[in-house]
Amino acid sequence: MGIFDNMLGSEESLFRDTVALDYDYIPKLIPHRENEQHYIASCIKPLFSKRNGKNLLIYGSSGVGKTVACKHIFQELEEKTDSVIPIYVNCWQKNTTYKIMLELCDQLEYRFTQNKKSNELFKVIKEQLNKKSVVFCFDEIDKAEDLDFLYSILEEIYRKTILMITNHKDWIFNLDSRLKSRLIAETLHFRPYSEAETRDILKQRMQYAFVPGVWQDDAFELVVKKTAELEDIRSGLYLMREAGNLAEDESSKKITIKHVQNAIKKLDDFSIKKSTDLDDELHALLDLIKVNSGLKIGELFTIYQKQGGKSSYKTFQRKIDKLEKGRFVSLEKITGGKEGTTTIVRYSKVKTLSEF
Ligand SMILES: Nc1ncnc2c1ncn2[C@@H]1O[C@H](COP(=O)(O)OP(=O)(O)O)[C@@H](O)[C@H]1O
Ligand SMILES: [Mg+2]
Repeated sequence: MGIFDNMLGSEESLFRDTVALDYDYIPKLIPHRENEQHYIASCIKPLFSKRNGKNLLIYGSSGVGKTVACKHIFQELEEKTDSVIPIYVNCWQKNTTYKIMLELCDQLEYRFTQNKKSNELFKVIKEQLNKKSVVFCFDEIDKAEDLDFLYSILEEIYRKTILMITNHKDWIFNLDSRLKSRLIAETLHFRPYSEAETRDILKQRMQYAFVPGVWQDDAFELVVKKTAELEDIRSGLYLMREAGNLAEDESSKKITIKHVQNAIKKLDDFSIKKSTDLDDELHALLDLIKVNSGLKIGELFTIYQKQGGKSSYKTFQRKIDKLEKGRFVSLEKITGGKEGTTTIVRYSKVKTLSEF
């Protein structure tokens, strides 16, 4: 017997279209974000009558639909009008003013960028954009290393809405007050989805991605439970894909609870495996935060020293920042308390799945 004899033929795949499980796939409908989308649209609306739009800071934890809601609106804008130009930039990928200027040129199809500095590039961009109205979306804005591009846009682009997305609301606290007052007109919170909402969203993706009837009810239900617990839709997409792959590997015609259980194990392994990439020092620090999650950074430092930690407070802070960059921990800045500004350090339940 040949080794391929027992395997499903490709026409028998459990998947119909795996693209629908990609994190950057944009479904036709974005259920349970109607209100948020309307709110965003209302900030853009003045641009249609050639007035200036409103700026908006969108915040919420990872995997709650911030990016997809904005991209969906942009898609609709592109279909409906030529007078409002949507420009989306991910500041994790384009994290300096220069890179952002190059990206804007690229989106405006301006090719003569060689040997030009940021301000020269912006001159070209400005000329083009001021002929129309613009909606900018700067996603993961907290990852931008400088914000000169925002100053330029605020001052020199006439009719615009600037949407800024971040997982960390406290990003605003560190903003220069001049920028803050001009930039942050409104804020919009994306709260995590309830279990019922999570079910709807995953069901929709399941229907796009899988052949009808291959999912057993209890298996899908377990995906929903785990996803709702992690409050990150990405984990659900990951689990559906993995469970589907595991079922196919066994030539099973159904995706069962056992496949999902094994997929969940892989998900857990993944967050552990990633954290083993950290060097020993950071790893020890992460372990410390894990058992002391939710403490103020100063309190954490005291414990760290008691346990023999040798770094200075500054170095300690830098390490915490590093862990936050890798999303192993989350930081929340508290202002105006007894001790002035302080930071709460929390262990992240699951490392976000965006780097898969
Ligand atoms: N309401 C929704 N409807 C359909 N898909 C959603 C919805 N919310 C989130 N998703 C999906 O979940 C994943 C994570 O969403 P995303 O917008 O990237 O999260 P965030 O930007 O908040 O981290 C994406 O694949 C996205 O398509
Ligand atoms: Mg996002």
